Amino acid sequence: MSNWDIFLTPYKQAVEELKVKLKGIREQYQKSSMHTPIEFVTGRVKPVSSILDKAKRKNIPLDRLAEDMQDLAGLRIVTQFVEDIETVVELIRTRRDFEIIEERDYINQKKPSGYRSYHLVLRYPVQTIEGEKKILVELQVRTLAMNFWATIEHSLNYKYSGEIPVDIKARLLRAAEAAFKLDEEVSIIRDEVREAQSIIIQKQEQGRNL
Ligand code: GTP
Ligand code: MG
Repeated sequence: MSNWDIFLTPYKQAVEELKVKLKGIREQYQKSSMHTPIEFVTGRVKPVSSILDKAKRKNIPLDRLAEDMQDLAGLRIVTQFVEDIETVVELIRTRRDFEIIEERDYINQKKPSGYRSYHLVLRYPVQTIEGEKKILVELQVRTLAMNFWATIEHSLNYKYSGEIPVDIKARLLRAAEAAFKLDEEVSIIRDEVREAQSIIIQKQEQGRNL
């Protein structure tokens, strides 16, 4: 096992544990036939090549990664509606299995790129063979529309190594505006959508019981 593998093992553990825990919330909502504020959960440990790139870009010494790179472990919760984000964040705040050390609201305060999302940095205890180790985890909470936009912008940034041509940048800003409008529009018909989804879930349950 390489030094990287050893260093990243607790991060991998944290990501796997938190995926189970957050998916558990979704499961509980579904079982109680309530609208789930969680559409899906993803998680990843930052690949070593990305760690090295970011360390270089941000001048982070490699022996300071655990403290200074907050997204070595990353979780993402994607919601259907903007209102679900607050529900999810409130839920996260009540939990006792980790500590929230930072919150960044890029929804009320979107980034110049057009990026919107709600970020939390958690201090999560992992049980290792050398005892408990508390590591930082970045949790991003965003709607499907925000996620769609961020994914596309991320791909373009990758393609152009962060130097997206101005005309494409302008398009991206318009796409961000459209994603914002989409979130607004579906919020207005939210009750209708939730009712429809609860009917579908009940039908599925009936089908299973036949
Ligand atoms: P990095 O942006 O990761 O270097 O760290 P930071 O300290 O600036 O934190 P910030 O909260 O700005 O960003 C954390 C993470 O949010 C990033 O790693 C991305 O996953 C995501 N993010 C932030 N800004 C953008 C953006 O403009 N576009 C996209 N696609 N993602 C973003
Ligand atoms: Mg940033």
